[in-house]
Amino acid sequence: MATIAPARQHERSTGSRQEADHKSAINQQTSPMMHVRNLCVNYENSRTGELTEAVLNVDIDIFPGEFVTIVGLSGCGKSTFLSAVAGLVPYQSGILEVAGRVVNGPGPDRAVVFQRASLLPWRTVLENVIYGLELRGIPRKEARDRGREILKLVQLEGFENFHPRALSGGMQQRTNLARALASDPDLLLLDEPFGALDAITRETMQNELLDIWQKHRKTVLLVTHQIDEAVLLSDRVIVFTERPARVRKQIVVDLKRPRSSAVKNNPEFLHLVDRIWSEVNRVGFGKEGEEYVI
Ligand SMILES: Nc1ncnc2c1ncn2[C@@H]1O[C@H](COP(=O)(O)OP(=O)(O)O)[C@@H](O)[C@H]1O
Ligand SMILES: [Mg+2]
Repeated sequence: MATIAPARQHERSTGSRQEADHKSAINQQTSPMMHVRNLCVNYENSRTGELTEAVLNVDIDIFPGEFVTIVGLSGCGKSTFLSAVAGLVPYQSGILEVAGRVVNGPGPDRAVVFQRASLLPWRTVLENVIYGLELRGIPRKEARDRGREILKLVQLEGFENFHPRALSGGMQQRTNLARALASDPDLLLLDEPFGALDAITRETMQNELLDIWQKHRKTVLLVTHQIDEAVLLSDRVIVFTERPARVRKQIVVDLKRPRSSAVKNNPEFLHLVDRIWSEVNRVGFGKEGEEYVI
């Protein structure tokens, strides 16, 4: 254990100013794309009835076109929060709205990409990408045209007729991302989407996601435990406490865009990573000025 060095306190006050600037900027916008207040999510053990509190009183707003990332220790409740927003896990109390509608199950306004590609093995790449469009009754030609366009965007042109088993892990995740983008969701939900990839492929995919986001400005909620990934991609990073997840800190990333992985050498980048790392590893949920665990 070590107490906070004065330098850290200075960093934090700089951060508070950034956060205040951010608040005044976002207040000018009217309706958030995702609006969460006092959200609580518990799991109940069906055999013993025992409750596990996973998410506790979380408040987050995400505005149209924002890229927001949640970071936190493993097991703190990040995936639970994202799954609740996706409508895959029920919540016990609080407000959870996407595009002005109360979330009470999955819907076409949200698309999710998980760590493991969940492709249908008997369908080709293109057929996987347009699966959701088919379910929604989009005419076949229109769906295929849109699917081809999105596959170009994720660098998979020429692989339309391959089956998932013939693709590398990175290409499978690109297909998954294409499938999510094809449905043109209001909110794109990404849960450790590059977590199962090797370091080089992960970096390539991060750069591609940056490009795609810069072109399309989707509203994105990403969950990751990789702090450099969070800073590289995001407008804002939200640090969750240990379980049950609460919002410990929101940190604005005001590195200029367009960005590429070259920004990782920027001192400001390293400073933000360091600051977020400290917040992630802080123990407890108390007032600023507490002790850090080094
Ligand atoms: N389906 C489930 N049933 C019971 N407990 C669960 C379930 N899913 C996750 N948990 C528990 O909820 C907590 C948060 O998990 P999770 O949201 O997956 O964390 P993270 O994504 O931050 O690693 C953990 O303690 C985990 O064991
Ligand atoms: Mg998780």
